[in-house]
Amino acid sequence: MIPDHIVISKIENNLSEIIKSGNYSKVAFLLDKNTFNHCFTKLSNHINFNYEKIIIDEGEENKNLETSKKVWEKLIDFKFDRKSILINLGGGVICDLGGFVASTFMRGIHFINIPTTLLSQVDASVGGKLGIDHKNLKNIIGIFKEPNKVIIDTDFLNTLPERELKSGYAEVIKHCLIRDKSMFDQIQNKLWKDSDWDYIINHSIKIKSDVVKKDSKENGLRKILNFGHTIGHAIETTYLNKSNKFYHGEAIAIGMICESYISNHFNKLRNDDLEKITQYINSVFNLSKVKFFDEIIKNAYFDKKNLSQNIRTCILNDIGNCEYDIEIKESIIIESLDYYNLKCNG
Ligand SMILES: NC(=O)c1ccc[n+]([C@@H]2O[C@H](COP(=O)([O-])OP(=O)(O)OC[C@H]3O[C@@H](n4cnc5c(N)ncnc54)[C@H](O)[C@@H]3O)[C@@H](O)[C@H]2O)c1
Ligand SMILES: [Zn+2]
Repeated sequence: MIPDHIVISKIENNLSEIIKSGNYSKVAFLLDKNTFNHCFTKLSNHINFNYEKIIIDEGEENKNLETSKKVWEKLIDFKFDRKSILINLGGGVICDLGGFVASTFMRGIHFINIPTTLLSQVDASVGGKLGIDHKNLKNIIGIFKEPNKVIIDTDFLNTLPERELKSGYAEVIKHCLIRDKSMFDQIQNKLWKDSDWDYIINHSIKIKSDVVKKDSKENGLRKILNFGHTIGHAIETTYLNKSNKFYHGEAIAIGMICESYISNHFNKLRNDDLEKITQYINSVFNLSKVKFFDEIIKNAYFDKKNLSQNIRTCILNDIGNCEYDIEIKESIIIESLDYYNLKCNG
């Protein structure tokens, strides 16, 4: 079951109804330039209520206090009150920032998230994490709060650049690897691009929400959602100041191969399963070798999820069965990066 406040359906079937029944004093949309150009027209044809628009620049670099301030000030200009609602139409940046702004404006007004990237539909839409970046630290200021509604319309994916779509697909693979072996077998039978997105997204949301329900504040089980992220995030950070950046999902794809290697090293994941995971991820992503191992290690230590001095990660006992908080040494990370470089196509 997916949570009641999340619906996967055509936007035209839902939005006007929700706004009308909520009897809101004011309505505003938060968009970035791309979602204004690509997504807003699909929606505006079906709107039969009055609204304002706030359009911000796209990209992670705008998920900050400065932009939040601009949005708060717009809400004041629009004379928003406690009975007003903000509708966030965009990827994870818009949904995280818009949700944060709405939840802090007048101590919290209603907001709806309409995620328009695959990543935000399968990941950011679930779990109530909202926030912004500050001083180069990702999501360092934020809160937990569920949106009043999340509406997922997979038609929005039609305009998403393929590299963004594929990046979101890494989280789909992750959800299968940590919780559902048979789904991992299923997705291998089809070209990833030909996926039935409604079906795939429904599956990912079920997995993530089931995990989040058991551990909403990430004291334990929720950490399995970070599979592939200890090494993946360190790779992503390392390449931020290089000429060839990795998208989040691309770095996580490499991280999942490395962390599967480590799982096998600990005699948990079987050899044939490691091979299967490596081959599948490489076939989808087709990425190049990684360099800068020292920097990657340094960044793995700085991961804010590492409470102790040591590096901790998730490992797979089997496909579909994941453990968290496993301490690992630098040397095994290096070995896993060597393994990835040996196996990758680039
Ligand atoms: N809250 C959570 O639990 C959670 C989970 C995962 C990630 N996140 C956050 O999500 C963010 C990343 O999300 P993202 O990958 O969606 O990034 P994003 O919001 O930056 O979107 C990626 C790009 O696609 C464009 N775009 C969005 N929808 C489009 C569409 N339908 N057609 C054409 N272009 C479109 C955007 O303008 C942007 O340029 C990060 O800030 C991350 O921290 C949050
Ligand atoms: Zn991720």
